[in-house]
Amino acid sequence: MRRPLVAGNWKMNGSRAGIKGLLEAVRADAVQTPGVDIAVCPPFVYLADVEAALKGCAVAWGGQNLCQETGAGAFTGEISGEMLRDFGCRYVIIGHSERRALYGESDAMVARKFLAANAAGLIPIVCVGELLEEREAGTTEAVIARQLDAVLEVVDATDALARAVIAYEPVWAIGTGRTATPAQAQDVHDFIRPRVARRDKDAAAALRILYGGSVKGSNAAELFAMADIDGGLIGGASLKAEEFLEICLAAQSA
Ligand code: PGA
Repeated sequence: MRRPLVAGNWKMNGSRAGIKGLLEAVRADAVQTPGVDIAVCPPFVYLADVEAALKGCAVAWGGQNLCQETGAGAFTGEISGEMLRDFGCRYVIIGHSERRALYGESDAMVARKFLAANAAGLIPIVCVGELLEEREAGTTEAVIARQLDAVLEVVDATDALARAVIAYEPVWAIGTGRTATPAQAQDVHDFIRPRVARRDKDAAAALRILYGGSVKGSNAAELFAMADIDGGLIGGASLKAEEFLEICLAAQSA
């Protein structure tokens, strides 16, 4: 039985003052949903505030990105996995479609980031997902396979694979209000798990595969009810305390 994970991706949102109330609410959510792992991924500059606000409660936190280089050095503007660990991060999002599309992150770069996350002891949340044109052209599985294989090819310890998280986020559903249907999402999750199983069966069975893309309180339950959907990566709705709680409650009762 995989424990559900609901992770909030705050993207480039928030202010020091503004996140206080949200963090208090998220802290309270964990008490109501003991069967669910909850995490928030704020912008880097708020990690110290998030750590101070969430320390000692069951909610974890993580980065939205990390540098593919390990150790320290001349990488202006970058944040290492070790630095994220220094601020108590458990997770790090890797290969989000916005990073791929707006910042040119290639599959190879995402694979390097996966290794850097593992080396730092972080749990990578690897995002994969097709564009609308790709779905319409019938190439969804080929795209997901390419993105996934880039990571599977570099992982050498299968325990790293078992503890990793994959997030299936169809690009056409992110921030658009257009959610994949539960059946559409399940189909892709049920493509991802056997593909990972070709590499390691036990790791595939333990692997949590999240769905992301316009998840809200009102559609979370039907998505999380699907056999291979193990929670969600939540953008916009993670900034609204009530919506986020509703999503966590849906994961609790799934
Ligand atoms: P959304 O974003 O929930 O706002 O669609 C999801 C994501 O980009 O992780």
